[in-house]
Amino acid sequence: MLKGKKIVLGVTGSIAAYKAAILVRSLVREGAEVQVVMTALARQFITPLTMATLSRRPILVEFFDPENGQWNSHVSLGEWADAMLVAPATANTLAKMATGVADNLLLTTYLSARCPVFVAPAMDLDMYAHTATQQNLGLLRSRGVQVVEPGEGELASGLTGKGRMAEPDEIVSALDRFFCKRRSLAGRRLMVTAGPTVEPIDPVRYISNHSTGKMGYAIAGELAARGAEVVLVSGPTALDAPAGVRRVDVGTAAAMCEAAQREFASCDGAVMCAAVADYTPAEVSGVKVKKGGEAWRLELKPTEDIAALLGRQKGDRLLVGFALETNDEQAHAGDKLRRKNFDFIVLNSLRDAGAGFGHDTNKISILHRDGRVAGYALKSKREAAADIADAVEGYLLK
Ligand code: CTP
Repeated sequence: MLKGKKIVLGVTGSIAAYKAAILVRSLVREGAEVQVVMTALARQFITPLTMATLSRRPILVEFFDPENGQWNSHVSLGEWADAMLVAPATANTLAKMATGVADNLLLTTYLSARCPVFVAPAMDLDMYAHTATQQNLGLLRSRGVQVVEPGEGELASGLTGKGRMAEPDEIVSALDRFFCKRRSLAGRRLMVTAGPTVEPIDPVRYISNHSTGKMGYAIAGELAARGAEVVLVSGPTALDAPAGVRRVDVGTAAAMCEAAQREFASCDGAVMCAAVADYTPAEVSGVKVKKGGEAWRLELKPTEDIAALLGRQKGDRLLVGFALETNDEQAHAGDKLRRKNFDFIVLNSLRDAGAGFGHDTNKISILHRDGRVAGYALKSKREAAADIADAVEGYLLK
């Protein structure tokens, strides 16, 4: 899958830079065109001559050649590339990528890149585990950067732990999988609902829930990365729409219902990830309700169950549901699966640490209509989204 792919390989100043030589050789052997961009410090770990010989192209370090003034355009590099890979990625470079620092050619190329970006972190175990590094990685992930996780083992410092750059083979297969996936859902139109809904009580107050939309956005991004045309019907969130995804913003459950029905009409399937309010105020006051001494009784009326409605209309289209439960998880999820006519349902339990609202991670199980149940480990929401997209492919591509 890497044949003819144009890859910018960013190499930063880590002892793992020696593995970048093997990485270039493997990428070239797979048929990729590789343009190496090194930081100044990386040159202390592996020579430009080695990298230029293996990649069959002069490597780039500076913004311009001091000898003849030739400009190395980071913009055209970013446009040229089908993917950018930073391997090894030091804690320093990851922090700069997360904050938008642009003080070398590698970083300006990253900021200009419109292609998918991969990073393979390499550092000492404590640097990797540090909250600063983890937050930077979380931020990069939330912007769509794919992290090839480091392995555990002996580190250059002599300590043992997680921080060793993934082996070149693993990095090549992560890229390979990505390019394989890219086309798998081409030609399919899919809808994802995500985020909370907001039900006004009066012009200043509302009823809502803790959904951040992260899981739904990750699913929309993953499906789009696999070539699907994705529409994301989203309640209010603080997130940017993933690359290539069309977002339809809604507020109330009623507005989400209308948009979801309209969009589903031209889709091959839908993933219902939104945390839709089950009840909405029976009456919305046109003016701010004034505080009185007594208790305030607010009458609520049920909202439309969007998933159940689409379940009745779906025909042979794919419909995927979500269930966030606190007890008797599988029984409740199985009940929703049947009641709403889902093909499969993704279950997460609030009893699992790291699962549910707001986290960057999730621990899911997938219950299929035929009774199969697949359990998954605690993973980043991006990786959980890939598992869900694999299940979607299982239905759409059979
Ligand atoms: N859902 C929906 N519209 C609603 C309520 C739920 O589309 N009005 C979808 C959710 O997006 C999710 C699935 O239905 O895919 C299950 O949502 P959940 O809130 O767990 O189900 P409920 O039927 O509301 O059950 P509960 O009593 O547990 O709230």
